[in-house]
Amino acid sequence: MLSSPILVTCGLPYANGPCHLGHLRTYVPADIFVRGCKKMDREVLFVCGSDAHGTPIVVNAEARGLTPKALVSLYHQHFEEVFREMGVKFDHFGDTDDPACHNRTQEMVKALIKAGHVYPKEIELAYCPKCERFLPDRYVEGECPYCGKPARGDECDMGCGRHLEPGEIKNAVCKVCGGKAEYRKQVHYFFHLSQFKDFLLNYLPTLGGTTSARNYALEWVRQELKDWCITRSMAWGVKFPGQEDLVVYVWVDAPIGYIAFTEEWCATQGRDWQSYWKEGSKIIHFIGGDIVYHHCIFWPAMLKGAGYGLPSAVVASGMLKIDDKKFSKSRGNVIWVKDDYLQRGLHPDLLRYYLASYTAHNKEVNFSWRIFADKVNTELVGALGNFINRALTFTAKNFAGLVPAGEIDPEVMARIKETMQEVSAALDEYEFKKASDSVMSLADYGNIYFQNHEPWKLVKSDMAAAASVLYSCLQIAKALIIFMEPVMPSKMQNAWKQMGLEGDVADRLFSEALTPLNVGQALGRPEILFSRLEETSVKELEGIFAQRMAEAEGRSKAVEKAAEKKKEISFEEFSALDIRIGQIKEAGAIKGSKKLLRLQVDIGGEIRQVVAGIAESCPAEELIGTLVVVLVNLKPTKLFGIESQAMLLAADQAGAAVLLRPGQPVEVGTKVR
Ligand code: MF3
Ligand code: ZN
Repeated sequence: MLSSPILVTCGLPYANGPCHLGHLRTYVPADIFVRGCKKMDREVLFVCGSDAHGTPIVVNAEARGLTPKALVSLYHQHFEEVFREMGVKFDHFGDTDDPACHNRTQEMVKALIKAGHVYPKEIELAYCPKCERFLPDRYVEGECPYCGKPARGDECDMGCGRHLEPGEIKNAVCKVCGGKAEYRKQVHYFFHLSQFKDFLLNYLPTLGGTTSARNYALEWVRQELKDWCITRSMAWGVKFPGQEDLVVYVWVDAPIGYIAFTEEWCATQGRDWQSYWKEGSKIIHFIGGDIVYHHCIFWPAMLKGAGYGLPSAVVASGMLKIDDKKFSKSRGNVIWVKDDYLQRGLHPDLLRYYLASYTAHNKEVNFSWRIFADKVNTELVGALGNFINRALTFTAKNFAGLVPAGEIDPEVMARIKETMQEVSAALDEYEFKKASDSVMSLADYGNIYFQNHEPWKLVKSDMAAAASVLYSCLQIAKALIIFMEPVMPSKMQNAWKQMGLEGDVADRLFSEALTPLNVGQALGRPEILFSRLEETSVKELEGIFAQRMAEAEGRSKAVEKAAEKKKEISFEEFSALDIRIGQIKEAGAIKGSKKLLRLQVDIGGEIRQVVAGIAESCPAEELIGTLVVVLVNLKPTKLFGIESQAMLLAADQAGAAVLLRPGQPVEVGTKVR
C-alpha cells in the first residue's frame, strides 16, 4: 500500500422515496473513484447509509399509516438493492437511526457544548393549538419572510429558494390539520457557526475536490455566517443531550452517520475507526451539488469544534437534466432506476458508462434515450466491444484460441503505459470523463492497429508477424478490461473471463496491464460483449416517457374533468353510505389478473374480503398495515370468481388507482363523513 488509508463517503439518500437517476449522478462516479483507488494500490474504505431522520420522513410515514422506522426500512432495503444491482459497492451501508449514530451524535454534541460552541436561546415558533404541538420544518407552510411567496417551514421552495430557520416563516399553517398556527416561545439550541469564520477562511482554500464547491462555500463565508438552530421539537431523531422533548436537526446527525458507519465497519474488522477520523487520514465526500453548504461549511465547523479530523476533499457533482429539461418528479420528468431502467432488462454498466462519460463531473449531465442508444451503439458496441471481440475471435480461428507465440510491439506497450498514466491522473482529479475517454481512445488505437496491420493477410504470408500483431492486440484488450473495470465492472469481468484470465478483474492493479499475457495461455470462448440498442427499443423507451410527461401535464386537466358536474344529492343520500377507516391485513395476487388484488381488510372488529384493481400501482407487500378508506355497504359482487364485500376508495389518476389514506393515524373502524 502506498499511502495512508482513504475514506470515501457518498451523501446519504433520504429513506423517503425510490432511487432515481439524479442519485446515481453522485453514487456511480464515487464508486468508479473507489474502484480506481484500489487499482492504484491504495487502501480505501467506502461507506454510505440511509438518512433516516427529518420531518419529511415523519410526514410521509404518517400519511401512509406507517411508523417512520417502517418507512425507513422499506426504502433502506430498496436503496441497498439498487446499489447492489448497479455495482455500487459500499463496504458498509448503514442507517442514521442505528445506535452507533445516536451515540456518536450525542458524543459530538456534548463535545460541542463543552467547548462552548452551543448556546440556548428562546425563539418564537409555529405551534398548532388544535394538534397541540410545535410545527418544525415540513410540518408547517406559510409565507417566506424574504420574498413573500408561499414557502415550507424550512425552505422557500417556490420563491427565492432561501433556507428558512425555525421561527422565520410568516402566517404559518399546520400541515397536519390545515389550521392556523400561532407562535409560541420555546428554548432551542444554536451552534455558534459565526465563531468559525476565521477557521473556515483558512481551511477552505486547502480543501480538495471540485473547485466549484470550494468557491461557493468561500463566497458564503466571506459574506455572512448565521448561527444554526440545531434542535427541533419532535420525537423522531437523535435526542438532544439532556432534553427529552428535543431532537437534533437532521443535518446534524446525518453527516455524523459518516463517522458512525466507519465505526460499524471497523467493529466488524477489528480495526480502529479513529485512524480514519482522528489521525489525519484522507476523507473524501462525494455529494450532490445542492448540499455543498452543509458539507463545506457546517460539517467542517462541527468536526473542528468537536475535535475530529477534517475532510480533505468535497467532490460535488453537477445536476441532471432529462431530455434537456430540468429533472422533476412531479412533472414526470424522472427516471426511476429500478422501474424505468433495471426492470426493463437494461444492463447497469451501460448507464454507468453514460454517467461517467457524458461530461465532466461538475457539469450538468443531460440524459436522453437517444443519446444513450448512440453511446451504446457507437462507443461500446462499435469501438470497445468490437475490438475485444475481433482480437478474441481472430485468435480462436487462427491460433487455436491460445495466446500466440510472438512479441508485443513496444509501441503498443508504450501506448498502454501512457493510457494508464492518463487514467490514474484523471481519477485523482475527479475527471471521470477524461478517464473513460482515455480508455476509449486506447480502444480506437487498437482497432486502427488491427486494421493497419492486416493480420488476415499476414496469416497467409507471415505467420510469425501475424502472431505478434495478435499478441499485441490481446495485450491491448487485457489493458482495456483492467482500465475500464471501475466504470463497467460486470461487463469487464465477463470480458476477463473471455480472455481466459482467472479471478476477479476488480482485484487487479492498473499496473498489471503492463504484464504480458503468457504465451500459450488458453483464451475463453468469445461472446458478444455489448449488443446494439435497436431503433424500435429507443422509440419504445421514448414513448413511455413522452406519455408519462403528457399524463403529468394532463393531470391538472384530469382533475378538472373529474370535478365535472354530477346530479346533486341530498345529505340523507350521502349519509346512506357507510364509509369507514379500515386496515389492510392481507394482500395477495389473483391468478390470471394483472390488475386485481385480493385483500383482507379490518373495518373495526370485522374482516371483509375485498377485490381491488390496484395491483399495478401498489405492490401487495407494501399494503399490509396500510390504513385505507372503505365503502362498507356496497352490494357484494364477484370479480374473477372471488366475492368482493366492500370497496376501497381511490383517486383515478390517469387510469391508475391511487389509494386514499388518512393523513394521520386513525383508529380502525372510524367513521368517515
Ligand atoms: N439526505 C441528504 C440529502 O439527500 C444528504 C445527507 S448527506 C449527510 O440531501 F452528509 F448529511 F449525510
Ligand atoms: Zn422566499
